[in-house]
Formats: sequence, structure tokens, C-alpha cells
Amino acid sequence: MIGASISRWTMSYFATALAWLFVALALMVAGFGYPATHLASPDTLVLVHVVCIGWLSVAMCGALFQFVPVLVAKPLFSEKWALPALSLLTAGLAALLVGFLGLGGRLPAWLWLLPIGAVLLIAGFGLVVVDLGLTAWLRPVGPARFVLAGLASLCATAAFGAIFAFADAGWAGSIGQSVLTTGVPLHAIAGLGGWLTLTAMGVSYRLLSMFMLSPDVDERKSNMTLAAGALAIGVAVVGGVVAIWFVSGLNVVLSITAVLGLATTALYGRDVIGIFSGRKRRQLELNTRMAALSFASLAGTALVGVVLVLTGAFAAYLGAFAFLAIFGWLSGLVLAKLYKIVAFLTWLETYGPVMGRAPTPRVQDLVSEARASKWFVIYYAAVWFGTLMLMASQPSAFRAAVAMMTVGLIGIVREVIRTRRLADVASPVRLPDGACAPHLLFARN
Ligand code: HEM
Repeated sequence: MIGASISRWTMSYFATALAWLFVALALMVAGFGYPATHLASPDTLVLVHVVCIGWLSVAMCGALFQFVPVLVAKPLFSEKWALPALSLLTAGLAALLVGFLGLGGRLPAWLWLLPIGAVLLIAGFGLVVVDLGLTAWLRPVGPARFVLAGLASLCATAAFGAIFAFADAGWAGSIGQSVLTTGVPLHAIAGLGGWLTLTAMGVSYRLLSMFMLSPDVDERKSNMTLAAGALAIGVAVVGGVVAIWFVSGLNVVLSITAVLGLATTALYGRDVIGIFSGRKRRQLELNTRMAALSFASLAGTALVGVVLVLTGAFAAYLGAFAFLAIFGWLSGLVLAKLYKIVAFLTWLETYGPVMGRAPTPRVQDLVSEARASKWFVIYYAAVWFGTLMLMASQPSAFRAAVAMMTVGLIGIVREVIRTRRLADVASPVRLPDGACAPHLLFARN
């Protein structure tokens, strides 16, 4: 990544994403949405999209604007699209949320806001997909293929979401209504399994090897993992559309998807173990240790999923299963990597221009891992406790767990802001001649 150009708006994406994560946690602490209301209730839809679009998708887009050019060793197709895309995503999400609140009777029923939100979100995601797709398409090597599969899944997710939004507003006719009645699991699988999980897997291969000084994962192995993952999503989306069309077979499609999803998780686990065992850096940095907890959460999610399916209890515990996948696996990984990416980019931005001309600190001098580790541990412990409390149907204890997650998150965000402000760098090397202090919310380039 050294020598790569710095994406100007990645920090703005991260800040926006973290703000939405705080909103989601505050809603859960207040008892808004699941488990106080059922999973498909409008309140839960608000919560789900604050987390899935506001937090995870925005953070992922911000990371990809920085990393796709690094993965393919080519400049981003257009740096200028990143900020308009963020504005469209934010406006689209806000419209969608107000529409959901109207659907649930908390606000006037301005259901036309749902299709408007969908169009704005499609415009925002469209800019991201075209920009990143055109960058990665020209050199689709290794992890970039995962990103391309993730972006294709994002298109499928947005297409389903838009049909639902038009149908909820009564603008999609009978076909739209039947897609809405049966297609929600397909939208969720394409979004969480395809877009977020496949992309996170691809980016994690590169980041883990880079930060642990490991050889890149054997391409034949990662291709096999990708093939299983892409097939899972392909079966869900194509098979799902066929099943909706013929009004039968959706359960078969979902079962095949589940088996392929499990195989993908197992293959990914094998690849990650390979990267860990081939590492040259024996002492693991905090971001890698914390990423390992997110891998444990992914393994836990797979295990819980298998046990629930075998005992016929999957539908009853779907909320706990999704919570562990979203906050343990995806959010845990994003937080761990965001902590390191911010340090790395801040270091590059501040000290890259004066390297060789003045003494500079190491990347690790920008962070205090001993202080930050306790906040991550609080976060993960709270997520696992929260999952158990959802399973045990203890809503008050669940809210306490989310309050604990919020405490962990406040601590992590405080550390990230300190990194950005170079607060932990000793003064003689903090700002050598010719170096500029970075701006909190965007890169100066
Ligand atoms: C263009 C963007 C999107 C739009 C317009 C959209 C719209 C919708 C709508 C209208 C529903 C509710 C369907 C109903 O009335 O039952 C829904 C459900 C859902 N969406 Fe999205 N969505 C979008 C993106 C995403 C993304 C990126 C994810 C995940 C990464 C996601 C995850 C979900 C999930 C999990 C549900 C089911 C929630 C539940 O039943 O509690 N959505 N979406």
C-alpha cells in the first residue's frame, strides 16, 4: 500500500458509517425494533437498514475506494464520484427510513418516500459499483474477484430492495407484490451473504497477509472459496427468482444456498488458517487479534445456524443468528480493520511526503494498542452476551448488552480520533518540518 494514492473521502465514509452505527445502537438500547417488535416489523426494517446500509455498506464502500486501487495496482476510475455517492446514499437512506416509519404509523404515511429512497440509493450504489467495477474489471486478480462478486451481489440486493420499496408504496403491481411476499430472504442473503460477506472475505485476505507479513493465499484455494460463495448467491438469486415465478421450490433453493454458504465458510476458514500459519510477524497486532474474534464469531454463526436447522428451530432464533453475523462477524471485522486502516492512512498522509527527509514515527506509534484492546474486548463480549440474551428471550438483558457494546464503541472511536489527531505520537517526531496535521474527516490531497 506504500506509494498508493490516498482516497480523499475514505475518512468521511468511515465517520458517516460510525455515526449510523451509534444511531442503531441507541435505537436498540431504547428498545426500538426487534426483539420488542417482530423481525419483519417496520421498526425492525428501520434498524436493519441503519445497520446494513448506513453502517456496514457505507464503511465497506469507504474501505473499497482506498483498497480496490491497491488490490489491482491501478488508480481509481474516478475519485470525483466518491463524495456524490456518499451524499446520495445518505439522502436515500434517510428517505427510506422515513418511509419505513410511515409504514409503521410512527410518521404520516408518506409511502412515496420508499421508492424515492430506493432511487437515490440505487444512484449512490450505482456510482460506487461503476467506479469500483471499472477499476477492478481491468485487472481482476485474487481478492479483486471477491470484490467484483460482492458488487454484483450489491446490484441484486438493490434491485430486490427497489422492487420491495415500490411494492410497499403500491406502485409495483401484482408481480411486485409477489416478489415482496416471498423475496425478502433473497434480498437479505444477497446483501449480507453476497455483498458484505464476500467483499469482507476478499479484502481480509489482502489485509491479513499485509499486516502479518504472510504470503498471499494460494490463488487456487481462494478461487475455490469464491466459486462456492458466488454459487451460493447465484443459486439464491437466480433460483429464488425462478421459484417466485413458478410459486414453488423456494425452500429447496434456500436449503441449497445454506449448504453452499456453509461450504464457503469452511473454505474461508481453511484459507485464513493458512495465512495465519504462514506469517512472518510472530507478535500479532491488535487489529489481527480482533479480526480473529470476528472469525470466531463467523464460525459461531455457522455452528448456531447448523444446530438451529437440525433442531428445526431456525425460524424461532433467526434474530439471534442474524445479530451474531452482523455484529460479531461483519461489524467486528470492519471495526478491527478500520482501527488499523485509519492509522495506516494517517501515517501515509502525514509522514509519506517527508519520508527520508526527516525522522518519522512508525505506524504503530500512532496507536496505543494496550489502551484500545479493552474497548474491543468489551465490544465482543457484549455482542456474544447479547446473542445469548436474544436466544434466552431476555429483552432487558439484551438492551444492557447493547449498552455495553456502545461503551466499547465509544472507546474504539475515541482511539481512532486520537490516531487521526496524532495524539499518541511523541512530540519531537510528531510534526516534522514539511508535514501537515491531517484533517479529521478527509484526506488533504
Ligand atoms: C437500494 C437499497 C435497498 C432498498 C431500497 C431496500 C429496501 C428494503 C425493503 C423495502 C425491505 C422490506 C420489505 C418488506 O416490506 O417486508 C427490505 C428488507 C430487508 N433488507 Fe433491504 N433495501 C436495500 C438495501 C439493503 C442492503 C444493502 C441490505 C443488507 C446488506 C439489506 C437488508 C435487508 C434485510 C435483512 C431485510 C429484511 C429485514 C426484516 O425482515 O426485518 N437491504 N429492504
